[in-house]
Amino acid sequence: MNLDRVAYTNVGIFTDRVELPLADQGLVLVRGDNHLSQSADDNGSGKSLLFSGLSVGLYGVALPGPDGKMLRGEDVACRFTKGPALVELFGSDGDRIVRGARPSGVFLQLDGKAWTTAGWAGQWPKETEVVDEREINEKIVQAVGFGAVTFRNAVVFGQGVAERLATADQSQYLKMLDEIQGVDFREARKRAEAWRDEWRGTLGDLVNEAATLSNQRQLSEFQVRDLEAALAQFSHGKRERLALAEQVVKAAGEDVAAAEKALEAVRAKGKQAAALRTKWNRVVELNTKFVELGATYHEHVRTFDRSREEVERVIADTEALIHKARCPTCRREIAGKAEVARIKKLFAPDLQQARERLEQADAKVKESDRAVKEATTILERHLKALPGVDERVVAQAEAEGGERALLQAGGAVEAAQIREQAAKDALKAERSRTWEGQAALDAARKQSEEAVAGLTENAKQQERAQRTIAAADYWTEAFGDRGLRSLLFESVADYLNDRLAHHLEALTAGEADVTVSALTALKKGSVKEKMSVNAAWAWGAGSYGGGSAGQSGRVNIALLAAHQDLAEHRSAKPFPWRIWDEPECHIDARGKEILAEWIQREAARRSTTFLVTHDALLAELVQPDHVWTVVLDRGGARVEIA
Ligand SMILES: Nc1ncnc2c1ncn2[C@@H]1O[C@H](COP(=O)(O)OP(=O)(O)O)[C@@H](O)[C@H]1O
Ligand SMILES: [Mg+2]
Repeated sequence: MNLDRVAYTNVGIFTDRVELPLADQGLVLVRGDNHLSQSADDNGSGKSLLFSGLSVGLYGVALPGPDGKMLRGEDVACRFTKGPALVELFGSDGDRIVRGARPSGVFLQLDGKAWTTAGWAGQWPKETEVVDEREINEKIVQAVGFGAVTFRNAVVFGQGVAERLATADQSQYLKMLDEIQGVDFREARKRAEAWRDEWRGTLGDLVNEAATLSNQRQLSEFQVRDLEAALAQFSHGKRERLALAEQVVKAAGEDVAAAEKALEAVRAKGKQAAALRTKWNRVVELNTKFVELGATYHEHVRTFDRSREEVERVIADTEALIHKARCPTCRREIAGKAEVARIKKLFAPDLQQARERLEQADAKVKESDRAVKEATTILERHLKALPGVDERVVAQAEAEGGERALLQAGGAVEAAQIREQAAKDALKAERSRTWEGQAALDAARKQSEEAVAGLTENAKQQERAQRTIAAADYWTEAFGDRGLRSLLFESVADYLNDRLAHHLEALTAGEADVTVSALTALKKGSVKEKMSVNAAWAWGAGSYGGGSAGQSGRVNIALLAAHQDLAEHRSAKPFPWRIWDEPECHIDARGKEILAEWIQREAARRSTTFLVTHDALLAELVQPDHVWTVVLDRGGARVEIA
């Protein structure tokens, strides 16, 4: 877009429409003629406003005033009138930009297409598209080739800008450079910072989590230790109780064996007692027989005695008869031997009988005696086999091996068996007895393991967060006032210093040698990324601040001019104008000569250069192609072109 003309209506003090040419004007000297206030040295007549109006038309923002404050487009609408305030920019090929207030709006016509904002719809050709103001502004920047900040800093040599540039701090300077070079890392930096802050938050959370996990681990480890001690105690106690229970089982088993043995003994005693009873009964039987045999014997002895007495009596009777001569039977007298013989003969059968009976008795006695003796032998033999045994002994033996003893011993066995079973049950119960704290121990161990695993994972995540933060820090730094921006600066420093040397040659006649660097050498030998202006003056002052105000003023001009050259060099399109708004501030008479010469030379390189000044000397020193006089009177401001 080639801008030919600008027109102002109700802009600031330009109330009546003022149209001014912009293209191919050569060097235009802009002067003021303030009819309202002569004492103001022609200031306030609206010279600066002419160019501020350009900025308003192009971008919707005015140039900063002497106070540095930037006005919006609406604020430059004339305070004394009410009609629409308009800045109209006309390009070749019918291109047009109209921006205004009362009501606010923008219109752009470019390459046969047209756009406007909602508030202005309707007053333009009907194919005009209604869009957002931002969209139109972007199209304008694209068409013009540079933005508002570049215009403000690089196209306009504004009042006080040279000082601001020379004394700008790192970030201000780089901000100006960003615009000059058409780069903007602010979004990228904001994203890098957001990225870093997010991960710092994450890291903070992780550190908190680690503290929690660490507590959890410690707590669960204490629990594990306590519970393990309790388990050891339980196991030890269990071993002891098992040993004891096993002993009890063994003792009970021994008791059972002993009781069974005792039962066996009772049974054996029973058998013995039965055998003894059999033997004893035999003895008793033999004894009875012996007693009977004894009685029979005594009877036989008495029978024998009686038989012997019978024999003796028969003999005695016979003798007595014989002796007394009387028949012992019939008591008749017997005489003679015959008689005696006869009597004897008479008694002989009796005697015989008696004698036979005696003999029989004797035989029986003898037989009985033999039987008694035999029974005695047998009895003695049996008795000898049972020494010390009597009925009491047998009864005692029978009692010891009897039913009652058997029952008792059997009962004892049963009782011992019950006790043994009870002991076995107790052992079994003890064996199967588990420790009640096991579940708690398992849980504590699991918790401890989880805490350890969590801490490991947390450490990994923390490491990752720290790596990410380091990366984000790197990029924050890289997109910051140091880093890429100063690197980019370094890449253009040679060009910049070249242009600086070029302007200094003209502006200080080679007295000053100034270089700009993004790196400052530190005392310890390292370098720091910091913008610095290194100046050396031929007459001795070793720093930028070392020169006089006039010298510094010219160095400032050279600095700004070099930067503007850089901006133009880097710009998508060459600047259509160069605007010097009162550059003579702080410049002495000799300096003004040099400055005028230099401006003349610079203007020769461009189609249109505006030099705004209220300085009579500087105005004298230049040979302008045109002179614009901004005349301010009661009717407002107007521009007289000569
Ligand atoms: N919105 C406005 N309405 C009316 N007058 C304005 C408005 N904005 C600025 N002005 C006046 O316009 C003049 C601007 O002058 P300026 O261009 O800075 O003067 P100089 O000629 O010294 O560069 C001042 O007198 C200021 O009061
Ligand atoms: Mg001014």
